[in-house]
Amino acid sequence: MNADNCVIDILISEERLRERVRELGEEISRDYAPKPLLLIGILKGSAVFLADLLRCIDLTVDYDFVAVSSYGGEKSSSGVVRILKDTDAEVAGRDILIVEDIVDTGWTLRMSYLVENLLARNAASVKLCALLDKPGRRRVDIMVDYCGFQIDDEFVVGYGLDYEGRYRNLPYVGALKPEC
Ligand code: IMP
Ligand code: MG
Repeated sequence: MNADNCVIDILISEERLRERVRELGEEISRDYAPKPLLLIGILKGSAVFLADLLRCIDLTVDYDFVAVSSYGGEKSSSGVVRILKDTDAEVAGRDILIVEDIVDTGWTLRMSYLVENLLARNAASVKLCALLDKPGRRRVDIMVDYCGFQIDDEFVVGYGLDYEGRYRNLPYVGALKPEC
């Protein structure tokens, strides 16, 4: 079945994504200028967003990725999280922006201790940028500094977000049909 056949409706169109990502890039550029910035994306969901965001940031900017494991169901995290791939970048003295696809319960960020880990390695600052925020699902207190869109409690795919490894390639964010 074609990936698009499984999507119930387009929540955020390609055009709205492009526009909002450009605004976020401008805001981030204004806030950090003239300092250089290191983006750290959490694999794999953030890769598409990070690639677009990066090109809307008008600063000296580099990026890296970390990978975390989350042992849970396919649609929610369990709270048991490990860092599987750490950043290769030197973080001491650097301003870091963690880039996430979506913050849902908040367990992934909290239980990976990613922020604490970067601060312990003397990062100058650590903030969080998430394309999507589902505040209604939050279980731990995580503040999103730069948020693309707040959405309702609905499972979404596309623009990097997956369900069982599929739909990351959709150019928009959509909600899954229950039977998919
Ligand atoms: P949290 O640990 O509950 O905040 O979940 C964060 C991670 O769960 C995200 O980085 C996604 O990988 C995944 N996730 C949460 N909600 C969704 C969704 O609606 N669609 C796809 N992935 C999601
Ligand atoms: Mg993710």
